[in-house]
Amino acid sequence: MKDPSCPSGSAGAGCSCNAASRRRGRWGRRGGAGPLGARLTAPPEVCSSAQTAASAARASSWWSHVEMGPPDPILGVTEAFKRDTNAKKMNLGVGAYRDDNGKPYVLNCVRKAEAQIAAKKMDKEYLPIAGLAEFNKASAELALGETSEVIKNGRYVTVQSISGTGSLRIGANFLQRFFKSSRDVYLPKPSWGNHTPIFRDAGLQLQAYRYYDPKTCGFDFSGALDDISKIPEKSIILFHACAHNPTGVDPRPEQWKELASVVKQRNLFVFFDMAYQGFASGDINRDAWAVRHFIEQGINIVLSQSYAKNMGLYGERVGAFTVICSDAEEAKRVESQLKILIRPMYSNPPINGARIASTILNSPDLRQEWLGEVKGMADRIIGMRTQLVSNLKKEGSSYNWQHITDQIGMFCFTGLKPEQVERLTKEFSIYMTKDGRISVAGVTSGNVGYLAHAIYQVTK
Ligand SMILES: Cc1ncc(COP(=O)(O)O)c(C=O)c1O
Repeated sequence: MKDPSCPSGSAGAGCSCNAASRRRGRWGRRGGAGPLGARLTAPPEVCSSAQTAASAARASSWWSHVEMGPPDPILGVTEAFKRDTNAKKMNLGVGAYRDDNGKPYVLNCVRKAEAQIAAKKMDKEYLPIAGLAEFNKASAELALGETSEVIKNGRYVTVQSISGTGSLRIGANFLQRFFKSSRDVYLPKPSWGNHTPIFRDAGLQLQAYRYYDPKTCGFDFSGALDDISKIPEKSIILFHACAHNPTGVDPRPEQWKELASVVKQRNLFVFFDMAYQGFASGDINRDAWAVRHFIEQGINIVLSQSYAKNMGLYGERVGAFTVICSDAEEAKRVESQLKILIRPMYSNPPINGARIASTILNSPDLRQEWLGEVKGMADRIIGMRTQLVSNLKKEGSSYNWQHITDQIGMFCFTGLKPEQVERLTKEFSIYMTKDGRISVAGVTSGNVGYLAHAIYQVTK
C-alpha cells in the first residue's frame, strides 16, 4: 500500500518520510526518545515541512480525482474464504475445476504435450499477429466440426486470442469498428459478469433479453422468444453456446431450433460465446450443437472459444476468435482487419498455451486422451449434482431440487436467497456469490454431505 503521507509516493525502504512516520509512534510511547537514541528525534519543523510537502503533492497529483473502485465480487469471495480458519470451509465461488480431493487439476494430456514441446527445444520467437496457424485451424475444426462446409469452403477466419475474455474483446472491438447496423448488444439476463464491461468498454451499448426464470430455476423459453422477437432488426445478440454462466441453464435442441428461426426472422447478428465446449455434457460435439445448427441455418456467426476450462489451461490464456464469412475472399479481407485491430492491442499472442492446445488437438493419441479427460471432468460435476440432490433428500428437505440436476456445466443457480447465502457463509463457512450461484466443480465426495446439510439448515 502506498503511504499517503509520502510526498514521493514511494513507500519502499528508501523512503525517509515513510520511515519517519513509522518512528513517530515509538517516540510517542517512549516520551520522545527512540530506540536508537536522540538522533532519531525529528524536530517539529521537519515534521511540519514534510506534512506541507505531502499535502502539496496530493494537491498536485495527476490522480487525485481517481476514486476507489469496488473489489471484484468473485475475488472478494476468495479473499474472505482464505481468512476463514474453519477446517470444513468450502469455496464455491471460483470458476475453476477441482478434482475429487478439492485440488487444482492438470490434465495428463497437457503434461504429455508439455513434455513433447520441451523435448523439441523450440525457439521462442514471436508468433504472427493472428497466432499459431495449426492451432487456429484445429480450433475452428473443433468448434464447427471437421466436415463443416464452412471449413471446406474456407469461408471463415480464426485468430488466436488471450483466452475467452480476449476473444470476446477482439470480437467486441471488431463489431465496434465494422458492424454498421447497430450499436446494441443483447445479452441473456443474467449473463457472465464480464460480458457487460467487455462490450461497453469497446463502445457498444448493452441490452438484455429474458433468459432465466427464478420461479422454475430453469430456462424462460417463452420470455426469451418473446423478447428476441421484438429486438430491432440487425441488432447484435449474444448466446452462451453451452453451460450458461452463471445459471447452468441451457436451451434444449428443439428450443435452440426455435431461437435460430426467430434470429433469422429478425435478421439478428449472432455472437456465440463458447467457453465450455466438452465441459457441459462431456461430449465436444454435443456441446457445439447450437453453434453448428445456427451455421447450418445460414446464420453467419462470430464465435469466441476458450481452452481455460476444457483443457484446464486457465493461466496459459489460450483461446480463439472466429468470423464466419460469405466466402473465402471476404474471409481474407476480414482477417486483414482483425490483424490491424490486434497489432496495437498486444502485437501478437503468447506462444506456450497455443502450442500445448495445438499439440493435443493435432496428435491422435493425445486428442483421444483429452476427450476422455474432459468427459471425466464433466461426469464428476454431473455426479456431484446428483449426490447433492440425494443428500438434500436424505436430510429431509421437502423442496424440489431437480433444477440442480437439470442445470449443466460448472455452475448451478441454486435459487438460494441472499440471506440464506449469508447464513451459509456465517454459520457453515460455505462461500459463494450472493446470487446463490455455486461452482459445482468445488464440490467433492468428501464435502457434498456437509453442503447438503448446510443448505437444508438454511432452507428448512
Ligand atoms: C461465459 C464465459 N465466457 C467467457 C469466459 C472467459 O474465460 P477465460 O478468459 O478464462 O477463457 C468465461 C469464464 O468464466 C465464461 O464463463
